[in-house]
Amino acid sequence: MGVIGVGWVGLVTAVCFAELGRQVVARDIVAEKVEALAGGETTIHEPGLGEMLRRNLERITFTTDMDLLLERARLLFVCVDTPPTYSGDADLSRVRAVVDDLPDDGGHVLVMKSTVPAGTGHSIRRDMPDLPYVSCPEFLKEGSAVADFMHPDRVVIGADPGDEEAADAVEALYRPLGGEVIRTDVASAEMIKLASNAFLATKISFINEIANVCEEVGADVGEVANGMGLDQRIGPSFLRAGIGYGGSCFPKDVSALKMLAGNSGYHFQLLNAVIEVNELQKRRVVSKLVRHLGPLAGRRIALLGLAFKPDTDDMREASSLVLAARLQGEGAEVVAYDPVAGERAGELLSSVTMADSALEALRGADAAVLVTEWGEFAALDWAEAAARMARPLIVDGRNFLDPAALRAAGFAYEGIGKQQATATAATAE
Ligand code: UGA
Repeated sequence: MGVIGVGWVGLVTAVCFAELGRQVVARDIVAEKVEALAGGETTIHEPGLGEMLRRNLERITFTTDMDLLLERARLLFVCVDTPPTYSGDADLSRVRAVVDDLPDDGGHVLVMKSTVPAGTGHSIRRDMPDLPYVSCPEFLKEGSAVADFMHPDRVVIGADPGDEEAADAVEALYRPLGGEVIRTDVASAEMIKLASNAFLATKISFINEIANVCEEVGADVGEVANGMGLDQRIGPSFLRAGIGYGGSCFPKDVSALKMLAGNSGYHFQLLNAVIEVNELQKRRVVSKLVRHLGPLAGRRIALLGLAFKPDTDDMREASSLVLAARLQGEGAEVVAYDPVAGERAGELLSSVTMADSALEALRGADAAVLVTEWGEFAALDWAEAAARMARPLIVDGRNFLDPAALRAAGFAYEGIGKQQATATAATAE
């Protein structure tokens, strides 16, 4: 089998299929990436992937050569990215560039893993009548992608009449994993992907709004989410309130689905609210800080965690980017620490001071904001942290820390959707 585009999805797909015993040819246009991967060096931070890559190196050929891929592989998994355009639609230029390179001679099968708007498969199939087309969307989460691949909730395989044999071949690849396989038409498979991400994003914006109401009425969103989630119709996952979703998928796919609906003549009202709630949620930390500190001009604020979620170095659409800019807009001095994403974040946040440890970031800070729930923050010596800070105030943007332990360590603790701490006098000094 072949993989085209060894970004995050492509690399996980290539390495995991090799782990299942398949011979894989993985092609990318970036020569340095191909060289690093061929040497067993991963280009992304994904738990378990590096070791899996190195133990399967002899089964994977990394190459820049499309002809080699076409010669050795029949099933071609297209895994190039589809970033948002300025209009909010998905940018399909990379997908198109790949498809233009494929022969329309019946010797190969195009398996679309990239997230594309519903209708893309039909239009490619129209242009390439002799290239069987299978839609096989991915549902991997960054940070647990290897485990998600190996233990899928479901595998969705979409094919239109005439392409059943190609779909059977793809299904055979996934069968050893044992997850439920759903066979649909291509447009439905494309919609399953977009609808799943949009629904999960909706769940997050919903619980974030519930959290904001909880703050007004003195309820605790953790208790509320727990009580809701035990209803099997609702389920407990993706009900963690926080400072908004980020990453390369939810923001892009929610917008792409909204645009797809609009371009098709339907106004998808709900998604407008999902997007707006998420944007505002990233900024709510500012008012929490102001309540304690008064105007933020000249205040030193430490951001703990910058990646859009833990266990990844991915900074795409991370809430930290908006938050850092908002804080600086208020005149605050921002210092930050992330265990893995620091270097990548430093390039994006050039006016933010990057610290080498959490304790270093907290030295002299007027407040800390926990932005990404990295495990090491739970184990931090918070009494020591309080001693280093100018003022032991923390806004836990992911409701990750134990409020009682933080209070015992001397902190004024603010979570999301919890009873607010008594404001420390803003003008006390
Ligand atoms: C998401 C989907 O979960 C995957 O199924 C999908 O395959 C992937 O997008 C994709 O389309 O490629 P991912 O973006 O890696 O995966 O990460 P998630 O774990 O879904 O988290 C997304 C964001 O939502 C993060 O910023 C996270 O902090 C936030 N989140 C998640 C919450 O704020 N609350 C929650 O309860 C869950």
